[in-house]
Amino acid sequence: MLIDTYGRVATDLRVSLTDRCNLRCTYCMPEEGLQWLAKPDLLTDDEIVRLIRIAVTDLGVEEVRFTGGEPLLRPGLTGIVERCAALEPRPRMSLTTNGIGLERTAAALRDAGLDRVNVSLDTLRPDVFQAMTRRKRHADVLRGLEAARAAGLTPVKVNAVLMPGLNDDEAPDLLAWAVEEGYELRFIEQMPLDAQHGWKREGMITAGDILAALRTRFDLSPEGEERRGSAPAERWLVDGGPARVGVIASVTRPFCRACDRTRLTADGQVRTCLFATEESDLRGALRSGAADEEVAALWKTAMWGKKAGSGLDDPSFLQPQRPMSAIGG
Ligand code: GTP
Ligand code: 5AD
Ligand code: SF4
Repeated sequence: MLIDTYGRVATDLRVSLTDRCNLRCTYCMPEEGLQWLAKPDLLTDDEIVRLIRIAVTDLGVEEVRFTGGEPLLRPGLTGIVERCAALEPRPRMSLTTNGIGLERTAAALRDAGLDRVNVSLDTLRPDVFQAMTRRKRHADVLRGLEAARAAGLTPVKVNAVLMPGLNDDEAPDLLAWAVEEGYELRFIEQMPLDAQHGWKREGMITAGDILAALRTRFDLSPEGEERRGSAPAERWLVDGGPARVGVIASVTRPFCRACDRTRLTADGQVRTCLFATEESDLRGALRSGAADEEVAALWKTAMWGKKAGSGLDDPSFLQPQRPMSAIGG
């Protein structure tokens, strides 16, 4: 079991499969991209499957989320999913993607054993999409979403980050569209995890702002704490339900006390938190011939050191060295 000193148990593993991405979201990375990890530094498919096997069979992990960068850029993704689906016990498996390429891959991923997907989409307007991601790929994302729904990778969740002056007027339109299409929309407060270190608390769009904007057009009633469990999203029923909308308010309403996550970066480091400043090197252990039990012991020790919270409200808060795209969201 992966337990920490605050009694939290990590049963949800987020695995970043690559730090690369085919978009350049302004809240994530600069136009020119980043210094990507070199191929030899990435975990191989075999190493990833082995670590997931150890997590599932020896450490109590029940749910595996594949992230990036953009995880669909990893050539071995379908094979990794297929091999993880054969593990005992079989973990639940999901993918967080920008949706580009999902049109081609959704059915194969479902056949391999993927359960569901979350797709990032911040706007319904192609020109705003281009301003926010610096790429003309809006239509690809919409087609990817439809393919995921058609493949039964459901519930399909849509993640949206609102940015002042870009798409902050779009919350009700996004919700009307998501309800119509049958996607579960969640708004995410922008977090200080961008590579450019440009995040400012002043001016960021808060959960309060988002809910106020949505309430101009919809009736929202809280879904209730008992349904939330350890999910980062707080959810509301839209106009009495069954449609729901979520807000992931990592900045203004942190949920660290209920956190059930452990993370693995594409270069094989365990992170106890998005905002962790330290990592534990499992790749080094694997490559120096460690047995499964030794790897499991290192992972447990890492999680035992998990901090109480993100530290975002501490005056001494420092943004982690690794940007979001290299942590895995
Ligand atoms: P499901 O609701 O189970 O599908 O998962 P999710 O919402 O955790 O996953 P997703 O990958 O879609 O992440 C949505 C947002 O939540 C992203 O911006 C993540 O960075 C953020 N998030 C995920 N895990 C954590 C966490 O442990 N702490 C914080 N603060 N944010 C997180
Ligand atoms: N703050 C909040 N969310 C972010 N994402 C990427 N960078 C940030 C940030 N700085 C979102 C993406 C994606 C999810 C994994 O995280 O839009 O939906
Ligand atoms: Fe790519 Fe996701 Fe970063 Fe956008 S937020 S540039 S889609 S990794």
